[in-house]
Amino acid sequence: MRITFIGHGYVGLVTACVFADLGNDVWVVGHTQEKVDKLKRGIPLIYEPGLEEVLKKNLNAQRLHFTLDYKEGLSGSNIVFIAVGTPPKQNGQADLTAVLNVAKEIGTHLSKGYTVVSCKSTVPVGTNKKVQAIIEETKNEDVRIDVASCPEFLREGTALQDTLSPDRIVIGSNSQKAIETLLELHKPLKGQRIITNLASAELIKYTSNAMLATRLSFANMIALFAEKTGANVEEVLNAVGMDNRIGSRYLYPGAGYGGSCLPKDVKALIHMGHEYGVDMSLLQSVEQINKHMREEVVSKVVSHKNIKKIAVWGLAFKPDTDDVREAPAFYILSELVKKGFTITAYDPEAVSTFRALLPSGIAYASSTYETVKEADLLLILTEWNEFKQVDLQKVYAQMAQKNIVDARNIYDPSTMNTLGFSYMSVGRTNT
Ligand SMILES: NC(=O)c1ccc[n+]([C@@H]2O[C@H](COP(=O)([O-])OP(=O)(O)OC[C@H]3O[C@@H](n4cnc5c(N)ncnc54)[C@H](O)[C@@H]3O)[C@@H](O)[C@H]2O)c1
Repeated sequence: MRITFIGHGYVGLVTACVFADLGNDVWVVGHTQEKVDKLKRGIPLIYEPGLEEVLKKNLNAQRLHFTLDYKEGLSGSNIVFIAVGTPPKQNGQADLTAVLNVAKEIGTHLSKGYTVVSCKSTVPVGTNKKVQAIIEETKNEDVRIDVASCPEFLREGTALQDTLSPDRIVIGSNSQKAIETLLELHKPLKGQRIITNLASAELIKYTSNAMLATRLSFANMIALFAEKTGANVEEVLNAVGMDNRIGSRYLYPGAGYGGSCLPKDVKALIHMGHEYGVDMSLLQSVEQINKHMREEVVSKVVSHKNIKKIAVWGLAFKPDTDDVREAPAFYILSELVKKGFTITAYDPEAVSTFRALLPSGIAYASSTYETVKEADLLLILTEWNEFKQVDLQKVYAQMAQKNIVDARNIYDPSTMNTLGFSYMSVGRTNT
């Protein structure tokens, strides 16, 4: 098939590469010359394990093309995926400016024949209908389209694998022909097929992310309670998660959820609910707990007296990505900078994206050990694998004071005490 992606971010680029790798002729329409030029040279604009190889392989095979020209990108395409950003507005509502602008471009530039237009972007209920109306208004008479919602569930850090083996593929459309076209494209992929109407498909995506955020905030609430009572949150949640009705995934404490999806999608669902007069207080509490977890990390750091120099391991919102959007590190380090601490940070992939977001007040190191030199406190904010088996005695020797605040629970409290650290984690006392 010939397919087109509009947008080459985490979703557009990864999915485009996977469908090209499966043998399709894939075109990606971008909107800045510099980025398109880099992609044409096989340089991914994001860090995602395995992406560079699959990008280069499919460029060489001439199955993957990048362009700024909608006419060239759309010409003869069977399916067009919209994969542009839908960031939150100030009031939490999803900003659809890019999606609706792109719809206009698609309508203006589609060539004659039949095309399925599908939003991979996470969009509020009713958006695909708006996209359809815009394209119908702007297209030529000899162009026929159907719209379908095909929400994306990939996770950054495992995006290629998730795209090839999703738990489910959701296709929402009122057109049987659109559904069949999308089923054909997805044939080589694993995962259950779920066929729904447009609104259900759009809502499935928000509901999934809201559920994940709810589980994380629930785990964090229990962690705070465990800390006050001497319970160990990991023992508690391990046992709870063994119940088949509950399950263990996304039931762990930390510094709060971040990233480009959960925070904005919870906000957008709250906003949608209010628009329809539905009580969304459960999700408002989920957000509140999430915000509180970041404040808790700051409180744990400042509870140490006479510290000045803080070492930070981890800036990305989770391991195996360079994405720092809504990362807990952003709020926490901004607060610590304001309070006058000297901060040296390290992240295996996310230093440059973080530096762009928080341009001053932080020095960066190029390794775990370099970061902790002369530090009074080590703060762990992302659970990268390379932090899990460092030589803790070497870390101890490098530090001026032996304080650790571990917001990701990567070490065992009793081991840390035995090594001589003053160790604080989340929801676990030190005994
Ligand atoms: N990142 C994820 O893990 C993930 C997972 C599932 C769904 N989603 C959803 O997919 C959508 C995209 O997310 P992302 O993380 O890939 O975003 P991103 O910010 O990484 O990428 C957005 C892309 O859109 C492009 N773009 C913006 N405006 C444009 C325009 N007018 N014309 C052409 N291109 C334009 C940008 O250049 C960029 O390439 C969002 O709705 C997001 O919620 C993201």
